[in-house]
Amino acid sequence: MASIVGDANVVANRDQLAVYEYDWTRRWHGRPLLAVRPSSAEEVARVFCACREASVGIVMHGGNTGLVGGATPFDGEVVLDTVRLAGIGDVDRSSRQFTVGAGVTLERAQEHARAAGLDVAVDLAARSRATIGGMVATDAGGALAMRYGTMRSSVAGVEAVLSDGRVLTRLSGLLKDNAGYDLPALLIGSEGTLAAITRVRLMLVKRPAHRVVALIGLESFADAVDLVADLRDRLGVTLEAVEFFDRIGMELACARLRKRDPLPAQHVVYVLLQIADEEDPVGLLAGAVDGPASEAMAVAEDRERQRALWSYRETLNEAVTARGVVLKYDVSVPQASIAQFVAAVDVQIRAFDERATLVIYGHLGDGNLHVNLLDVELDERQVDDALSKLVADHGGSISAEHGIGRAKRAILHPTRSSAEIEAMRAIKRALDPSETLGRERVLPPIEASGR
Ligand code: MLT
Ligand code: ZN
Repeated sequence: MASIVGDANVVANRDQLAVYEYDWTRRWHGRPLLAVRPSSAEEVARVFCACREASVGIVMHGGNTGLVGGATPFDGEVVLDTVRLAGIGDVDRSSRQFTVGAGVTLERAQEHARAAGLDVAVDLAARSRATIGGMVATDAGGALAMRYGTMRSSVAGVEAVLSDGRVLTRLSGLLKDNAGYDLPALLIGSEGTLAAITRVRLMLVKRPAHRVVALIGLESFADAVDLVADLRDRLGVTLEAVEFFDRIGMELACARLRKRDPLPAQHVVYVLLQIADEEDPVGLLAGAVDGPASEAMAVAEDRERQRALWSYRETLNEAVTARGVVLKYDVSVPQASIAQFVAAVDVQIRAFDERATLVIYGHLGDGNLHVNLLDVELDERQVDDALSKLVADHGGSISAEHGIGRAKRAILHPTRSSAEIEAMRAIKRALDPSETLGRERVLPPIEASGR
């Protein structure tokens, strides 16, 4: 490996390898053989060939902010750290695009785009560590997905390396290109199991200059869903984000931030919304929120207060993780089923264990709920099965934005048909026949899929 990437970019020392051994939640771990840090697609290709020859598996590692163990090695795997795939090209103002290395953090990409008066369309709380390559590989969503779509909507092309060392390059950024299969699209959301994404051609957006943020307390999930429908009707494209969290989420956020509840009374559910426009949108907010909702509302007009309101929502992942080992589910359900689904989860969890603490928060605007269980010692398999069945019964998906990784592969089945899983297996066999990349991730074990 050293002959490919240089001595300094091969990590073999146990102490230095420790950073790769655990995922962010510390629920997944493994002891890698070594970690390598290539700086180009060509170097990645040579690393892949060496690993393939030695029959050693490879796991891709970006910012390590994933929550499903997808970037955590199994014992004996080689970690391919994308940190040196860090180039950023100039912003092309005519196409509103630029090319970034897979290892560039979202925050750096945002700074670069903003310097040209544009922005990356996807934003999420882990922006200082999450990498563009990892975000494409997991089709990250985040808070602005209801307005601009998930990462998939921002990708105009990729450069990627197959496990046999061949490099696929589609970086010209054509918006219209129907010549054959859309290979970059195939790699979006493939979580490092089909190829290593090394560079990304990103489409940028021009976000409006002014915004207002409001936190509204409501008495039921049904009210929150109705509010979203009204806001959509009244605000159209000026509605940039609608997030939510529950009462326990508010308590955890206050404790973690050491701040007070921004609303004077307690509520069952909190909706955080952001409106953006070319003119000051405060008037739009006043016209969009009326009745009891307008009486339990905190409004932030300046940047600092807006950040403060957002912090209650953005700290939740850290807040629940800090409480100890958590069972986490990242699900999507149709808007019309959200209230019913939340009630059904509550009943199910109480049936398993009366003392369980259920914390639900996420992205209400696109039906993406993060379901977290604390204070319990439950049989994970039993909860997995019950929740995935509830998700399937409500027409949902068991992964909205975090992917499948190691954590959810056994429960892919209820929401993906056998035909779909077989097609996924066929693609995997075709692109990575030696099973070098992302072994035992994403695709269900054969026995769990009934074949
Ligand atoms: C979020 O929305 O905060 C992130 O997706 C992480 C999570 O808390 O599950
Ligand atoms: Zn999220």
